[in-house]
Amino acid sequence: MTFTITVEPSGRTFTAQPDEAMLAAGIRQGIGLPYGCKDGACGSCKCKLVSGTVVHGAHQSKALSADEEAAGYVLTCCGVAQSDVVIESRQVTEIGAFPIKKMPVRVSALERASHDVMVMRLQLPASDAFQYHAGQYVEFLLRDGDRRSYSMANAPHT
Ligand code: FES
Repeated sequence: MTFTITVEPSGRTFTAQPDEAMLAAGIRQGIGLPYGCKDGACGSCKCKLVSGTVVHGAHQSKALSADEEAAGYVLTCCGVAQSDVVIESRQVTEIGAFPIKKMPVRVSALERASHDVMVMRLQLPASDAFQYHAGQYVEFLLRDGDRRSYSMANAPHT
């Protein structure tokens, strides 16, 4: 038996096994629900339960307090549907809608803006436009194999 999870306002649906967290089920079926830790600690996956029954596995109260749970909020990363469920999620993105792009870059300038902020100017391939959507980030793959992830400070349309 599986349960149907409907995500509003997009109206997208996916199914979950009776012992499967909704987030894992959504990711498995290409539904990009928002999340952070996937472990009940950050609250990034918190959303409103519109209808249906959800039980939670272990999670931290800073991610979902008893008051929030009583008000009908759930964590999809550790929430398991016990019936067909409708949730309201702030964003649902289809996996693959924003494909990962890999491009060579060269650091052309570094400017220290404050004691903990560095402005990096990157030289990109002339044929490749750098476009991104809100919420995306850049991961630098360094020559020695290290990786560093950074958020863009400017809005995507600027
Ligand atoms: S993803 Fe962090 S609490 Fe669910």
